[in-house]
Amino acid sequence: MTKILMVCLGNICRSPLAEGILKSKVEGLKAFVDSAGTGAYHIGNKPDKRSIAIAKLNGIDLTDQKARKFSIQDFELFDFIYVMDNSNYKNIVSLAKNEEDKSKVRFILNEVFPGENLDVPDPYYGGDSGFKNVYDMLDEACDIIAKRINNNG
Ligand code: 4NP
Repeated sequence: MTKILMVCLGNICRSPLAEGILKSKVEGLKAFVDSAGTGAYHIGNKPDKRSIAIAKLNGIDLTDQKARKFSIQDFELFDFIYVMDNSNYKNIVSLAKNEEDKSKVRFILNEVFPGENLDVPDPYYGGDSGFKNVYDMLDEACDIIAKRINNNG
């Protein structure tokens, strides 16, 4: 089973969507998917209403999720740690104990645009269209991740 952690700043907008979308695409027990934030502001909170809404429009339920903060133990628990942006990348890599930890940290949009280290824009202070944009980006990236997992067992 491939263990994947999705990471953003608050764990209420982008990474809960990435978690829900990837879970909806992987077959059965082929992956364990979770999400976390680098910041502590929203620990224990449900995803943002706008993330819940765009997911629901696409048949995905995020309402059972609760925000948590990234922990250095996550380097042991997960095979891949997908970050949403360059700020998340810097934060997580700064906690890595060794090269193996560091090598687990990936930009999620590099699945679609290899090597470009592009950001999934933080939609928190914007309107609903930002969430639709984020959903579409994550859907494309998660499609690629899920196909790889589903093909490789
Ligand atoms: P996320 O969005 O990192 O995609 O969950 C944010 C949510 C909350 C805040 C920032 C980003 N905040 O500053 O409270």
